[in-house]
Order: sequence, then structure tokens, then C-alpha cells
Amino acid sequence: MIIMGIESSCDETGVALFDSKRGLLENSIYSQTKIHEPFGGIVPELASRDHIAILLPMIKKLLDNQNISLSDLSGIAYTAGPGLIGSLMVGGTIAHALSFGSNLPVIPIHHMEAHLLSPMLERDPPRFPFLALLVSGGHTMIVEVKEFGKYSILGSSLDDAAGEAFDKVARLLSLPQPGGPNIEKLALKGDPLKYNFPRPLKNRGFDFSFSGLKTAVRLTVEKEFKANKDVERIELIRSDIAASFEHAVVDTLVSKCIFALTEKSHERIIIAGGVGANKKLRLNLKLASEKIDRDVFYPRTDFCTDNGAMVAYTGYRRYTQRKKASSPILIKPRWKIDELGFSS
Ligand code: KG4
Ligand code: ZN
Repeated sequence: MIIMGIESSCDETGVALFDSKRGLLENSIYSQTKIHEPFGGIVPELASRDHIAILLPMIKKLLDNQNISLSDLSGIAYTAGPGLIGSLMVGGTIAHALSFGSNLPVIPIHHMEAHLLSPMLERDPPRFPFLALLVSGGHTMIVEVKEFGKYSILGSSLDDAAGEAFDKVARLLSLPQPGGPNIEKLALKGDPLKYNFPRPLKNRGFDFSFSGLKTAVRLTVEKEFKANKDVERIELIRSDIAASFEHAVVDTLVSKCIFALTEKSHERIIIAGGVGANKKLRLNLKLASEKIDRDVFYPRTDFCTDNGAMVAYTGYRRYTQRKKASSPILIKPRWKIDELGFSS
């Protein structure tokens, strides 16, 4: 059985083919970073226009490369939400049109469930049950995953998502978007202990809050940039702020995960979503979990940020496990992961 996956929820266009026997056949990703760069953030209208221009040619190339035609597929999975309404509409409309034209089932996918299942694409996937730290541009949450389709949210961000905080701090430091990878790069040259930024809600429950941290960084930037005019000195300050901010976010995320693992007596945790590509987060969570004898799983970095492979895989799981025909939704820009059941 081969399922095609289409991802277009934000500023990445992703298409992939997942074969139940051979695994992932091909995964192709196109990022709109350059288009949005002059605006300092994602412009939703430009994002959807670009998805329109690129998606069908990408699908054609994907199928041609694999010598596969639409009639060889068992279904077309696409991200139905959450995400930007116009961008979701493009993927949803194309998936529905292709499925209508070739009489294939269409499988609407929850973007965060796709992130959550992305470690399953790896050679050594986690066994259920497990905890999941989902950290993307729009969401930060710890989810208890009892089995496929059974998710309960233990805690989530009360304000900014972790990725959003990376993006906003990047803007304060005049770094291009997306902020996460650029902060990570700049942080390599800085001292993570130079500024002691707050760790909001660190030892209190499962919820997160990042807006106070962002404000603390803003105040430090304003103070330091006012007091220092030397170019080399400013460069050093920028790297120290990037490193100290990254350290504060990673420290907060890791301590929440360790607290959740022990409090809920789970054996393993996965990290997924764009911020899951952060090397310091991956390393520190691994080290901290090893100390309490727990296992950590994460997808390769290409599968942390948005991609079609996770959508194709989740489509395969949804298609094989559903007990009734899927409800005829096109998109759901707002959609909670714990509203999902076995049959979507
Ligand atoms: O999952 P994703 O690709 O898109 C959403 O579903 O939102 O996540 C994008 C977010 C952005 O905020 C980006 O800055 C962040 O993930 N990100 C990172 C890294 N790579 C991407 N944050 C920290 N370190 C990274 N290496
Ligand atoms: Zn995402």
C-alpha cells in the first residue's frame, strides 16, 4: 500500500510517498524562507500563493521519480490543520481534487499528530505508551500518548510557543527567520551562562510560558545595545544573549520533561516539531533522561521541521486503522490534538 502525503500548513511545501512494505520511498521539501525574509515573518497571502505555484509540479516530480502513477496509490493524506487557513486550503483542495479525479480516498491529517508520529519513520521507533514533547512554531505541549490515536495534553504554553520565542528573540538580535536555527548558530559563539534569563513556570506543573523570557531578553538587548557601541563588543553581546536564551529555553523544556516522566511514570519520551531540531535540546534531554534511566527518541532533524513524510506515514496509520469512512472535512485551521480518536 502506498500513501502520498501533502504538507502545506505554513511556509514549507512537502510531499512524500510512504509504502507499507518498503517504508519511505521519497520525501521532497521546499521552503519559502527567501520569500518571507524581507518581511521579517511569514506573510500568509504570499505563503498560499507560493503553495499554489509549487505543489502540483512537486507532486508530478515525486510520482515521476518513483515511476508511480496516481492509480498505484491507496490514498492521499494531507495536513488539514492546524495551520494558516490559506495554506491549508491549497493542500486540502489539491488533495481532494486529485482524489476525486482518480477515485482515491482522501485522508485529512492533524499536523501535530504527524509531528508526534515522526519518530516512527526511524529505524528504532518508540513503543507505546510514551510522552511527547511537541515543540513547533505554533505549539508547545507535553502529550501523553497511550497508543495510536489516544492522546491527552498534560501541559501546554499559556502564551508564546517555544519556536515563536526563538523567532521573536531572533528579530531582537536582527537575525533572519526562521529564528531557531539562526539563534542556534549564533549561540555556538556565546557564553550560555553570561545572562541568567528567567525559566518561567520551571518547577510548577506541566504548563509552559515563554513571553516573560522574551521580555527579559528584550530588556537586556535594549540595555546592552544602549551601553555599548563598539561593533566587536556588540557582536559578543549578541552571541552571549543568543546562547543564554537558548540555554534558558532548553533548561525549561528539559526540566518539564523530566518532571513529567517521573510524575507520570513513563519509560520513554519523544521530541518532535521544529524546535526538536535543536542540538542542545536533543543532547540535554538525552543526558537528563539517561540519569533517571529513561529513553529518548527523536526523528532526524529533517523530520522535525515540517515535511510530507510525517503526513504520508500518519496517513498510512489512519487509513489502516480507521473503522469508518473519514468525515468529509476539507480543513480545520484550529484543531486540538486530544479531539482525535481512532477514526478521524
Ligand atoms: O514544526 P515547524 O517546522 O513548523 C510549525 O509547525 O510551526 O517549527 C518551526 C519552528 C520555528 O519557530 C523555528 O524557529 C523553530 O521551529 N526551529 C528551531 C530550530 N529549527 C527550527 N528552533 C530551535 N532550534 C532549531 N535548530
Ligand atoms: Zn510543524
